[in-house]
Amino acid sequence: MIVPGEPLLSPGSLARAVCYASTSAEHARRVFGSNALLFEFGRQAIAVALRECPAGPVLVPAFICDTLVDGVRAAGRTVVYYRLGPDLSPDIDWIEQNAPSAGGAIVVVHYFGFPSPVADARSLADRRGAVLIEDRAHAFLTTIAGGLPLDADSPCVYTWRKFLPVVHGAALTGISAQAATNRRCGVVQAGRSLASWAVFSAGSRRLLHTLGPTFSDEPDLRRNGTAARLPDRLSTGVLASESGRLQRHGQARRHNFRHLATGLSDLPGVTQALAREPDGSTVPWCYPVRVADRALADDLLGALLSEGIGAWRWPTLPAGLDSGAHPEAAELADTTVCLPVHQGLGDDAIAWMIDTVSGWALSRAATWPDHRIELSG
Ligand SMILES: Cc1ncc(COP(=O)(O)O)c(C=O)c1O
Repeated sequence: MIVPGEPLLSPGSLARAVCYASTSAEHARRVFGSNALLFEFGRQAIAVALRECPAGPVLVPAFICDTLVDGVRAAGRTVVYYRLGPDLSPDIDWIEQNAPSAGGAIVVVHYFGFPSPVADARSLADRRGAVLIEDRAHAFLTTIAGGLPLDADSPCVYTWRKFLPVVHGAALTGISAQAATNRRCGVVQAGRSLASWAVFSAGSRRLLHTLGPTFSDEPDLRRNGTAARLPDRLSTGVLASESGRLQRHGQARRHNFRHLATGLSDLPGVTQALAREPDGSTVPWCYPVRVADRALADDLLGALLSEGIGAWRWPTLPAGLDSGAHPEAAELADTTVCLPVHQGLGDDAIAWMIDTVSGWALSRAATWPDHRIELSG
């Protein structure tokens, strides 16, 4: 059985998306609110959000992927990594003691779709004259399900490309109406001049990427990902045509997450990385499991991929992050493997994942009886 890591674009979705092509950007913006700006990638959205922030460093959690940091650097900002508490919320005391300079921005991440508390980080940002930015790249459907407010006071970055079968798709909300209008003019102009290029030179290549299951981290797209560009029409078309189904997608993801949680409970050496269950307004991006060390995580990933299961590692920590200064983030990144829970997976696919992970865990426990695979947290 093949279990794709991301939902596939069905002929029906493609046909619906094409019907929306001419008005899709307006529809897509309506999903996020009228002042939203749309982009290809989340890293572009964060770079644009930072243009509206006061001078100063950008505080980013140490457990973070390199692409977000690319966006911060593209905005010409200095990155300062901060420590997280055991529940992955910002360690406010640590920030106060270790990141003395003020201004700039503080980025809070809602990991794997689970809402992180922002009130303390917001007060801290206010005290420091910084702007709080919510990274909701994993929490697009949690916001749609009501788990996070759509009209937050802070700038929020979303990536719908992590939830729907598209290459591109990110949004920025919560910047002032004036700033949004100014930016949108620039973005629309850039979009118009890019439209012919997109259609004539790269349209078919993108369509091919979109139809495949493992498209979103194509290296060429990553390299070019820091300029602020509009998502292609197929991406906005899919979002627009799926907008009535987003709640249903959220329910399917929750169901798949709970099914995995039940099937993988009591397994030796494998735990759920967050040790949390999604409530009715939380939509998980994936099911993150933890094993004891990096070698086991690589081994588990290899075993899953060889069985046709599209698991992945997240995050790839940014180059330049001092893992000696942030050992807990490095350990978490080393030992986490993400299993898909997307709306395209049925119970048979989840059962296959449970069997595969269970078989792997039991075979490793038998082969290496001395190897302790108990987890710290
Ligand atoms: C938490 C988080 N924020 C931001 C980003 C950046 O999104 P994009 O890859 O669309 O630039 C990612 C991408 O992996 C992410 O996981």
